This record gives sequence, structure tokens and C-alpha cells, in this order.
Amino acid sequence: MKAIVTATVFVLFWFTCVSDGKRNVLVLLGDDVGFQFGCYGNQKIRSPHVDALAKRSLLFKNGFTSVSSCSPSRSVVLTGLPVHQNGQYGLAHDVHHFQSFDEVQSLPLILASHGIRTGLIGKKHVKPDTVYKFEVEVTEEEYSINQVGRNITFMKEHVRDFLEASRNDTRPFMLYIGIHDIHRCDTGGKLGDFCEKFGDGTSPGTGVIPDWKPEVYTPEDVEVPYFLPDTPATRQDLANMYKTYSRFDQGVGLFLRELENAGFADDTLVLFTSDNGIPFPLAKTNLYDPGQGEPFMISSPYQRDTWGKTTELMASTMDILPTILDWFQIQYPKYSLNGQAVQLTGKSLLKALAPNPGPAFDLVFSSHVFHEVTMYYPMRVIRTMGMKLIHNLNYRAPYPMATDLYLNPTFLDILNRTESGETLPWITTLDKYYFRDEWQLFNLTSDPYEQMNMADAPEYHDVITSMQTTLNAWLVETDDTWRCLPAGELEGNTCYPLYNGGKKGMGRNK
Ligand SMILES: *[C@@H]1O[C@H](CO)[C@@H](O)[C@H](O)[C@H]1NC(C)=O
Ligand SMILES: *[C@@H]1O[C@H](CO)[C@@H](O)[C@H](O)[C@H]1NC(C)=O
Ligand SMILES: *[C@@H]1O[C@H](CO)[C@@H](O)[C@H](O)[C@H]1NC(C)=O
Ligand SMILES: *[C@@H]1O[C@H](CO)[C@@H](O)[C@H](O)[C@H]1NC(C)=O
Repeated sequence: MKAIVTATVFVLFWFTCVSDGKRNVLVLLGDDVGFQFGCYGNQKIRSPHVDALAKRSLLFKNGFTSVSSCSPSRSVVLTGLPVHQNGQYGLAHDVHHFQSFDEVQSLPLILASHGIRTGLIGKKHVKPDTVYKFEVEVTEEEYSINQVGRNITFMKEHVRDFLEASRNDTRPFMLYIGIHDIHRCDTGGKLGDFCEKFGDGTSPGTGVIPDWKPEVYTPEDVEVPYFLPDTPATRQDLANMYKTYSRFDQGVGLFLRELENAGFADDTLVLFTSDNGIPFPLAKTNLYDPGQGEPFMISSPYQRDTWGKTTELMASTMDILPTILDWFQIQYPKYSLNGQAVQLTGKSLLKALAPNPGPAFDLVFSSHVFHEVTMYYPMRVIRTMGMKLIHNLNYRAPYPMATDLYLNPTFLDILNRTESGETLPWITTLDKYYFRDEWQLFNLTSDPYEQMNMADAPEYHDVITSMQTTLNAWLVETDDTWRCLPAGELEGNTCYPLYNGGKKGMGRNK
């Protein structure tokens, strides 16, 4: 009897604690951040704070972005809809001028309508303001991007203010921190190619960031990833990037300490990922694995049995909104965009924290339209654990270069060596980089570096047909205006043939 009473009291006590705790969310989003962390197997980098977060998280070995470009990717994080559906086709700023449809129901709007306090500290880079409206915003729209996105002391102070105010507020919160590191800076500028001199305390005239203890690397001291040429220029470029990773890493540590100090560590779900691949060829703006793959962690204070574990399950940035709504037990609103009812096609990652998460974790989709306004290169992608299919709609044009991917030591070295006929120890060539097949099918088991296109191989006929069918169904479900291209014209819900010489059409004209 006594034992039963004790157990009952214990259960009640436990239940009360858990249900009394407000449920909050912290999103930590890196900028062009890749897998350069100890917890992702990098032996050279020193990343104690991100590694510590991994010890309190479930780490996805197969995390992916929905689109490998800044504003588009952030729009997917905040809407749960692919870019071809939410309208943020390319970058939001300056001459690029892309923005989501006015009717889009974004995460901060949905949360606000359910009494949740929302904050954005750091890089925002999505438009329009009416769609992406947070209650508290400390962004590049008001401050210099380096202060708000790279000065971790400045950011920490604003995180502290937000959390302090939340302590006095009965509402739960979602805080989204957009760290601007490790994005590139002006090539050859005073701050260094990766802004690695900004506030490092030793480079004259660059100021001090009191909370940053820079970690400095030599060119011998880096791991050259398989998709980059192992040359002195690349190694120096990577060494500079690693130094900036130390500011990113220490920022993550600072912000998590603020969460703890404010008393929220035990009721806050932490999501950690990045917008797109590292700023190098084959990665950022590309949907080969170095561009599509992202570090991805989820830390739930209520599922501590998952802490420190890794999983093969596939996660996408498109899953972040469904995960947060699930966490707060909020239904996605009913509404239409361009005449079609909108439904989410991502899944809640909270299911990955429980047994038998199901088949939704066996594949991800990606969709790219633009990066910069001149960079029209729409791609649609389906990736499973073993296979990847890329549809390049504008395959007749050369693959376009982003300004920051062009003016940097690694790419200039590639250009120079190609031009002068010097050896270039690269897994591809400039020519292959620029000119791509319409359909690219890779067997990631036998060909993890995505070198051999099997799209026309007879033994892959059934595989490609089945992947095209699944991809096409998703494009219809998400109302993709591009879905008949390049060989067909969409009229109503039908693809009509154009007879423009498009290669076969591969069954997409049905
Ligand atoms: C929170 O409330 C306390 C007590 O009323 C007050 O002293 C403090 O200034 C408030 N803090 C903020 C950030 O509003
Ligand atoms: C970073 O922010 C802190 C706090 O606002 C400030 O004191 C410091 O000068 C800033 N550092 C740089 C390099 O701007
Ligand atoms: C590439 O060549 C240009 C022109 O000769 C030169 O200025 C530049 O330093 C070279 N860059 C690299 C990374 O080799
Ligand atoms: C991919 O390659 C692996 C290893 O060679 C092979 O076992 C597998 O059957 C291939 N996949 C397909 C779909 O053919």
C-alpha cells in the first residue's frame, strides 16, 4: 500500500512538474555552416560547445536542407513549405528582391496567434515583413549584420534581454537565433575572407569581441573535404574558415548558457542546423550532398534517453515548422495559396525521439529556383538513404556562380589552374561543374561522391521511374508551377508537350 501511494505521489509529482513547465523552443541556425565539428567526425577542428550540445541531443547523420541558398532556406524553415510554394524563390535583399506570398502563414504568425512569444536575434533575410513578423526582432534591418550576426557578445546581451523578459511573461516562447558565421566576408578585405579577423583582438582596427577566444589554424591543420582540391590555396581558405567556426562554436555555448542561467534549459526544445552547405563549389547553392547535407540536432529535455545518440533517420529543414507545432500541440491553419489548399509535407522530428518513427524518415525532397537574381537554375530533388535523383530544369545553361563562390581563393585557384593547364586535384572539372545532365541519378552506396550518372543505365530504369513518380506526386501536392518543365507546358493541371527537343521527358508529361 505504502509503495503504491509513494508511486502515485511520484507520478503525480512528475506529471505536475512536466506539465507545469512551459514548453519553449530555441532554434540555432548557422549561415553556410557545414560538418566541421568534432561530433560530426572532424578530427582537426576544436568545437567543444557544439559537441557539448550533441551530448544533450539526438544527432542526425542524415540532415538535409530543402534548398541550398540563404533566403530561400530560411523561408522554408519559417513556413514549412518549399520555395516553389512559399514564393521566396531567391535572395531577399537589394537587387534580388524576392519575397514570399503575402498570404503565407509563417511560424511566427501561427505561434503569435496561439499566445506564444516570438523573437528573432541575428540574420533574418526573408521578406515581406508582414509574413515574417516576430514580436522581438534584433536583426540586420536595424543593426549592422556583423554586430547582430557575428559579434557573439552583442548577440548574447540581446538573448539575455529576451530571456529575462520571458521570465516575467506567462507565455511560452520561441527564440530563433540566426548566427551569420561562417558566411564569407569581402575577399581580401580588412576583416579577412571569412571575417575571421573581426573582433579577434589581434588584427589592428577590427575591434574586440570580449566573449571570443579565437582558435587559429594553419593550412596543415585542416581536413580538406573530398569535394575540394587539396591545394595550398584551399587549405589556407579552410584554415581561415575554421577560425570563424570557433566564433560560431563559442556563440552557441554562450547562448545555451544564457538559456540555462535564465532557468529555461529544462523546458526548452533546442533545434540546431544550418541554411545551406559551406561556401565552396559543389556545396552552397548545389544540391549534391555537400550542398544538401546539413548538421542537424534536436535536444528535448523530456526525452533525455535520446541524448548523445545518433540516428540514420533523414531530417529536413522542411520538418522544423511541423516539429515546433507538434511541440506546442498547435494545428496548422487551413488556408489557400494561389487557389490551392496548403498542407504541410514535412514531418514532426519529435517522432524520431520515440520508437518506430515510420517511413516519413526514409526520404527528403529539395527544391531550388534562384540564388541571386541572375542565377536561375531550378532543380528538383528526391533523396533516399541509397539514391539521389536531381532534375535540372535549366540544364542547357551553364551552372551559375554566386559572387561569394567566385571571388574567393579556392575558386580563383581552380580557375587559374584550369586556365593555365596546371594540375588540379579535384573530383570534377570546371566543364562538368558548369554543364549538367537534365536528370542525374546517383547510387550513394557505390558512388557516395555523386560522380557517375546512372539516369540512362538500363539496370536503373525501374528505380528512376519510381523515384520520378514519387517526386512528381510531391510536386503536384505542393503546387509546383515548374512541374512540366522543360519539355512541357502546364495548363490547368495538365502538362502539354512543347516538342522543344527536351530529352525524352522521362514520363513527366503525363
Ligand atoms: C521582471 O519582474 C521583476 C519583478 O516585478 C522586475 O524587478 C524586473 O525588472 C522584471 N524584468 C523585466 C525584464 O521586465
Ligand atoms: C561587440 O559587442 C560588444 C557589446 O556590445 C562591444 O562592446 C564590442 O565593441 C563589439 N565588438 C566589435 C568588434 O564590434
Ligand atoms: C589567379 O590568377 C590571378 C591573375 O593572374 C592572380 O591575381 C590571383 O592571385 C590568382 N589566384 C590564385 C588563388 O591563385
Ligand atoms: C547501388 O550500389 C550497391 C553497391 O554496389 C548495390 O548493392 C545496389 O544494388 C545498388 N542500388 C541499386 C538501386 O541498383
